[in-house]
Amino acid sequence: MALAILLAVILGIFAVRAVITTSDPYVKTVLSLKGNPAQGSAIFQINCAGCHGWQADGRVGPSLQGVSKRKSPYGLIHQVISGDTPPMPKFQPSPQEMADLLSYLETL
Ligand code: HEC
Repeated sequence: MALAILLAVILGIFAVRAVITTSDPYVKTVLSLKGNPAQGSAIFQINCAGCHGWQADGRVGPSLQGVSKRKSPYGLIHQVISGDTPPMPKFQPSPQEMADLLSYLETL
């Protein structure tokens, strides 16, 4: 119950920021899932750390410290799946993997 309210609040804030983008079924599914940051960290080490550093402190790619304060959840999901900013590749994580990754990015 409390979780449902929390989720509604988060989605509510989010809806104000990106009404159209959150209707994307993939994004919707990701945001409806509970991410596991430990799992997300493992996914990050395999796919992202080569560019962003083992501590996400930056190498080829920029440091991701505090990135969730600069980007909305949608912005983070979009960054991972869009391939809009080469050389960062376009990733196709399952919704659960993306939710895990998102929960890890939000710990940085
Ligand atoms: C080939 C290197 C490379 C890989 C692999 C890579 N990135 Fe990136 N990433 C970049 C570069 C370069 C940028 C800066 C893009 C720009 O804004 O021009 C970036 C930007 C970002 C940003 C935005 C940072 C900001 O301050 O706005 C996020 C978030 C991000 N990457 C997350 C990830 C995640 C999560 C993964 C793994 C799923 C990943 N990246 C894999 C190179 C990479």
